[in-house]
Amino acid sequence: MEVVILDEAQEIAKKGATLVAELVAKKPHSVLGLATGGTPVQLYKHLIALYQQGQISFNQVQSFNLDEYLGIASSNPLSYRHFMNSCFFEHIDVKLENTHLPDCSPANPREEGPRYEQQIKAAGGIDLQILGIGSNGHIGFNEPSSSLASRTRIKTLAQSTIEDNSKLLKPGEFQPHLAITMGIGTILEARRILLLALGEHKAEAVQAAIEGPVTAMCPASALQLHPHVTVVSDAAAASQLELADYYRWVYRENEELKKEYGNFYELDIYG
Ligand code: GLP
Repeated sequence: MEVVILDEAQEIAKKGATLVAELVAKKPHSVLGLATGGTPVQLYKHLIALYQQGQISFNQVQSFNLDEYLGIASSNPLSYRHFMNSCFFEHIDVKLENTHLPDCSPANPREEGPRYEQQIKAAGGIDLQILGIGSNGHIGFNEPSSSLASRTRIKTLAQSTIEDNSKLLKPGEFQPHLAITMGIGTILEARRILLLALGEHKAEAVQAAIEGPVTAMCPASALQLHPHVTVVSDAAAASQLELADYYRWVYRENEELKKEYGNFYELDIYG
């Protein structure tokens, strides 16, 4: 796992945006896996700025979001569809019909997971999956105890997740307890994964994900099984990492190598 610890949230967003921009430049019809939550917001802002400067176009890109609440209308400001449209899609040239999220009010919720999986497959699979991490180690809405082989399905949210996410709600506003989320098995099929982590409240989860055992108790630890994961974290979220000094050193070494040889250790997987 490549672990990059940066001081400024802005640098983290920029690093993430650069990865996306490099991928889309190389493969204009890329399939991006996208995340919601506060963490990727600055990354989306950077991408919007790159688009406005004419440095990137999303007009052939397809996207699949990790998850969506179940049982609300997609027009509800709480829905992840609403979040993605207003935070990102409405500000770039992506074709809205190429942006996918699980349906939050499907006629048959049990069929929604397999349908979504089929759509991802038909698009050729996900080239780059962006992830945040829950304070309990969840990715998407795969809460602790989720099967590491799980596929897109309905999940009941953990009480701690409901509490974390309630900060975005107005008092008394309805908060769904169910969601449809890509499974951990689904996420692990992405060709490349970028996990972003900001803030001290993520420190324990980040440590468990990177350095702990691979366990359903910390769904993000399953990323250790993936050959091409980059974790970009601020110092606060990295504060419990035992090997933090080593990750910083490797990063500095690699930056030097890049100057001399280019990005020779980067796998050419986007073909
Ligand atoms: C939510 C989402 C996750 C997200 C996480 C962290 O519940 N389902 O995909 O990564 O919580 O959110 P934040 O970035 O706001 O901390």
